[in-house]
Amino acid sequence: MITEGLKGRDFLRLQDFSKAEIETMLEVGLQLKADNTMRRYHDDVLRRRTLFMMFFNPSLRTRNSFEAGIYQLGGHAHFLEPSATRLPTLEGEDLGYASERIVDMARVLSRMGDAIAVRILGDVVGWEYDKAFRIIQEFARGSQVPVINMEDNIYHPCQGMADAMTLWEMFGKKLNGRKIGVTWTYGTSPKKPIAPHHDFMYVASLFGADVVFSHPAEMRIDPEIEAQIKANAEASGGSYTVSDRMEDACEGSDIVYAKNYVCLDLLPPVTKEPQKDEMMKLFGKYTGWIADEKRMNMAKPDAQYMHCLPCERGAEVSNEVLDGKWGYACYDEAENRLHAQKGVMACIVP
Ligand code: CP
Repeated sequence: MITEGLKGRDFLRLQDFSKAEIETMLEVGLQLKADNTMRRYHDDVLRRRTLFMMFFNPSLRTRNSFEAGIYQLGGHAHFLEPSATRLPTLEGEDLGYASERIVDMARVLSRMGDAIAVRILGDVVGWEYDKAFRIIQEFARGSQVPVINMEDNIYHPCQGMADAMTLWEMFGKKLNGRKIGVTWTYGTSPKKPIAPHHDFMYVASLFGADVVFSHPAEMRIDPEIEAQIKANAEASGGSYTVSDRMEDACEGSDIVYAKNYVCLDLLPPVTKEPQKDEMMKLFGKYTGWIADEKRMNMAKPDAQYMHCLPCERGAEVSNEVLDGKWGYACYDEAENRLHAQKGVMACIVP
């Protein structure tokens, strides 16, 4: 497999890679997955490499899939608790000895290890929409080793790779002719990220699916990402349509991807401060937007429900869906975080 041109690259967002490069990383991940089932872990691939992981937000899947993944490839993950380092800052935010410039932290860590992975989003950056991605870009600017984005407010490329791998496993590498329904759902928190929706639709459209996206009018996605999804659909022979009826994402679908996410128009930069009470009032108008049996029965008989997890049972999805015949793809999707990220690390980490 040709992985030329990938070694040493940062993995900040899917948009930085060609379709062929994304396919290569997925194929490497699938090869490693196939070998995993035979307990062949290829621990020579990244032997003695160190991945520094900096989490500003909680995680189950991302942390554990990276730790297990680099260990299986022969390396080691080092978990950095931001509260145990000095506050990482951008220019103009310095707090004397209590903080350290991100660019300097990245320069130092990249002299000790072989890759740096960062998750930062939400409250940690006051919901300032692009700030978390700018911070990850700043890590990349200072680092001499690849930087991996483990989720910011806009992008969750590792999740997107696992989603693509899960779709490939179900339908093959071309998703043409497959209807992938994607929808916003109700949720009881004003903090659920929009990035997984962005990257799920990015990969579904990249590989030719007919994406039907349902959301209440107020729950738009990022227009720049939406334009990329449309362009992907055009280039791949797929399609992208938008509706304000949840049923349109469910009827006749092969997949129903249904998850809550924040209202961008109640967060900076549209508003000065996050309008969390307003957001909950708004969500309260749409409590019926849940992936339940009635909605899943509108999909194809063998349709699957997808969600990046963690999900909110009883709000985003019913127990009957998650625990029933529609639920297994969710857990494949979670498992594939491990295999997809091994593919990415094997390709980009020198
Ligand atoms: N899907 C996902 O990123 O899960 P975690 O927040 O648990 O890492």
